[in-house]
Amino acid sequence: GVKAKIAPSMLSSDFANLASEAERMLQFGADWLHMDIMDGHFVPNLTIGAPVIQSLRKHTNAYLDCHLMVTNPLDYIKPLAKAGASGFTFHVEVSQENWQELVQKIKAKGMKPGVALRPGTPIEQVFPLVEAEAPVELVLVMTVEPGFGGQKFMPEMMDKVRVLREKYPSLDIEVDGGLGPTTIDVAASAGANCIVAGSSVFGAPSPQDVISILRKSVEG
Ligand code: DX5
Ligand code: ZN
Repeated sequence: GVKAKIAPSMLSSDFANLASEAERMLQFGADWLHMDIMDGHFVPNLTIGAPVIQSLRKHTNAYLDCHLMVTNPLDYIKPLAKAGASGFTFHVEVSQENWQELVQKIKAKGMKPGVALRPGTPIEQVFPLVEAEAPVELVLVMTVEPGFGGQKFMPEMMDKVRVLREKYPSLDIEVDGGLGPTTIDVAASAGANCIVAGSSVFGAPSPQDVISILRKSVEG
C-alpha cells in the first residue's frame, strides 16, 4: 500500500513569516511542505525560487516538495538541489524532448523526480515517464489550472487518478488544487495518496483538524 503524504501549500502562507508558518504546519501534522515555484511565464504568476528554498532549509529538516511551474525546469535542478529541495516535480507540457535527461539529473542530485500535468493534458502523456528505466517516482495531477491558490476543485480529473492507480499500484499520486474536507473523499477513493492543500488548511480556524481529516480520508 501507499502512505498518505499531507502537503500544505506554502503559497497560502504568510511568505514574510515562512519559517514559522512551516514550523506551525509540521506541528499540525503535515508530512511534506509543498513549495510552488512559478516563473511568470509558464503560469501568469511569480512566486519563489531557489533563494527562498535555501532560506527555509536553514530552519527546517522537512521534506520540501517543489512543484516547478516553469518553462525551463532544467535550469532549476542545480540551484534547487543546492538550496535543499527534496522533491522536484516538473510539468510534462514543457518536457516533451528532454524528460529523460531531467529525471536523470534530478535523481543524480538526490531529489525525488516527479511529473505534473495541467487539467487539459491527457494522462497518457506521463505513462512513458513512469515506465522508463529511470522513472519518475510521483505523478502530480493538477485539479485546477496552475498559477493560483483558492480555485475550485475539478472532479473530472479523478478519471486520471483512477487510471494511474489501476496501472501503478505503488506510485505516489499527488493531487493539487481545491483539496479540502469537502473534496478529499473523491480524490482519496480515486487513489490519490499525496494531498496538497493550501487555502483549505491556512484558511481554517483549526488547520490541525483539516490535516487530520485529509489523512483519515486517505488512510481510512
Ligand atoms: C496552484 C498550486 C497549488 C495551490 C493550491 O498552481 O500548484 O499548489 O497552492 O492551493 P489551493 O489548495 O488553495 O487550491
Ligand atoms: Zn502546487
